[in-house]
Amino acid sequence: MLKLIHSIVRVYFDYNATTPLSPEVIDATTAASRDLFGNASSVHHFGQQAKAAIDEARSAVAALINGDPSEIVFTSGGTESDNFAIRGAAEVVEATGRRHLIASAIEHEAVLNTLKALARRGWKTSLVGVDQSGIVTPDRVKDAISKETAVVSVMHANNEIGTIQPIAAIAAIAHEHGAIMHTDAVQSVAKIPVDVRALGVDLLSLSAHKFNGPKGVGVLWIKRGTRMLPILTGGKHERNRRAGTENVAAIVGLGVAARLAAGKLEKEAKRLAVLRDQLEKGILARVPGTVVNGEAQTRVPNTTNISFDRVEAESLLIALDLEGIAVSTGSACSSGTLEPSHVLRAMGLSTHRTQNSLRFSLGQFSTEAEVQQVLDVLPRLVEKLRSLTKSVAAARP
Ligand SMILES: Cc1ncc(COP(=O)(O)O)c(C=O)c1O
Repeated sequence: MLKLIHSIVRVYFDYNATTPLSPEVIDATTAASRDLFGNASSVHHFGQQAKAAIDEARSAVAALINGDPSEIVFTSGGTESDNFAIRGAAEVVEATGRRHLIASAIEHEAVLNTLKALARRGWKTSLVGVDQSGIVTPDRVKDAISKETAVVSVMHANNEIGTIQPIAAIAAIAHEHGAIMHTDAVQSVAKIPVDVRALGVDLLSLSAHKFNGPKGVGVLWIKRGTRMLPILTGGKHERNRRAGTENVAAIVGLGVAARLAAGKLEKEAKRLAVLRDQLEKGILARVPGTVVNGEAQTRVPNTTNISFDRVEAESLLIALDLEGIAVSTGSACSSGTLEPSHVLRAMGLSTHRTQNSLRFSLGQFSTEAEVQQVLDVLPRLVEKLRSLTKSVAAARP
């Protein structure tokens, strides 16, 4: 998406943080906000119109992940879905003595901090590490699991490096031990085919704003028969699983985004892989001292994470922003701090390398011209920052 603002042509390469709305989503949410104001729980015409629109969106999301519409629970986004998955599945078995939770060390904060919160209430938690390329090997889960484990939560694709985890194998281990398997698929849905049956999971989180849908709306897919306690108590919405009057316009937008994604998934994944590879290869060829993190593994097609030797990532991010190019140092929640990425740290990278890595994530409106613009600008910026560091070091007494 090239945008001309104050004579700078802006490039947005931060799609893993969030995405712009598709024009069709804008039209659908605008129309729904105007026309579908009824409360979906109301018996009259206005309520039933809203309910029908919600059910249409339910079917669209179900089709995207090969679920059944009755298994879709709308939430306020990925964070709530992750909280609901872990707390809801854990608390329902708490009384049986299962008081142990497993997650990977590279999860999003929505999972990591939920485990921390439950640990403060006496739950035992294990964080399973990853190998050097950012993969959770099933054997590590096998080592950590026991008959006390209530929930295993491992993300499908990592938000910082894009690596895809062996979820089906991990789910099989969880089930052998009677545990519930949750996957945070916020960064994989609509980027690669996601099939809840093939993954073999019980719970799956997704979020609309990661695939050109509205912010503040997502889904927890709950396999039929999975016992869960609601985390939001109140009315009987969403089959008693998530109380609160539905945000009809946002849910309609999610449905449209899901339908659009399903229709172009394969083609778009190929297009983005070509652009991402052009960008990645171009950077490695033009900028000395660069290396891709997680490259050896299967990744989602839109993401690359690159270390720039002898460059502070935050400085490069700001220099790029001044040139109109938006990228990220990792998860959006940790940007603005100089905390090294917990994902790169878990991969065993040196402190230096965890602090000099940038994430480039592409999407629907990304073009070859934008890739070229980044490749034209980046070598000069890196060189400038390196020479500044050198002269500061030389000036030191
Ligand atoms: C892997 C992952 N999980 C969960 C979330 C949180 O989703 P939301 O922003 O919809 O709360 C994000 C968003 O950055 C994410 O990347």
